Amino acid sequence: MQLTLLVGSVHGNARQIAQTLAFAAPEHGASAHVLDMQDLSIAVFDTPGLLVLCCSTTGSGDVPGNAQGLYQSLDADARFLGHVRFGLVALGDSSYGDTFYGGAKAFQNRLQDLGAQLVGEVCVLDALAADDPDTVALAWFATWAQQARGATKIANGV
Ligand SMILES: Cc1cc2nc3c(=O)[nH]c(=O)nc-3n(C[C@H](O)[C@H](O)[C@H](O)COP(=O)(O)O)c2cc1C
Repeated sequence: MQLTLLVGSVHGNARQIAQTLAFAAPEHGASAHVLDMQDLSIAVFDTPGLLVLCCSTTGSGDVPGNAQGLYQSLDADARFLGHVRFGLVALGDSSYGDTFYGGAKAFQNRLQDLGAQLVGEVCVLDALAADDPDTVALAWFATWAQQARGATKIANGV
């Protein structure tokens, strides 16, 4: 199973999580590479395999600066993404209330509007929580990787 981890980050937390998951991927029968969202367009969703978006939130529920071009491309170059299966790691801070992990939610909503299918649960990493984010993300990934394998088989008609 081939994974591409797309990073939307302001200060590097999401990048760190993506690197942790990429490092762990072989244990789960996957190979993974990490790609910064900067300068990407909707074309990245044609990459073979599954995508995992690791995206934080800035401003007031906004996508990070390095993710804005990709996010805008989902509108400007909109097309059907029914072939896409993606996972979502959503970083935020629950003290922001209504805009909690709004950046990742914005990607989720837009991708689903275009027909992409979310695999598994969203991994929500709350900066306010006492839990170690790497530990939470790795536990999520163990379950997600199994679900992703199932989703890949269904997509391939196996
Ligand atoms: C200026 C600023 C604005 C933020 N706005 C939000 C927000 O609206 N909602 C939210 O859930 N988190 C918000 N956060 C929290 C970040 O998303 C969180 O700290 C995250 O771990 C940062 O990850 P990053 O280093 O990958 O960008 C904000 C953080 C900063 C510094």
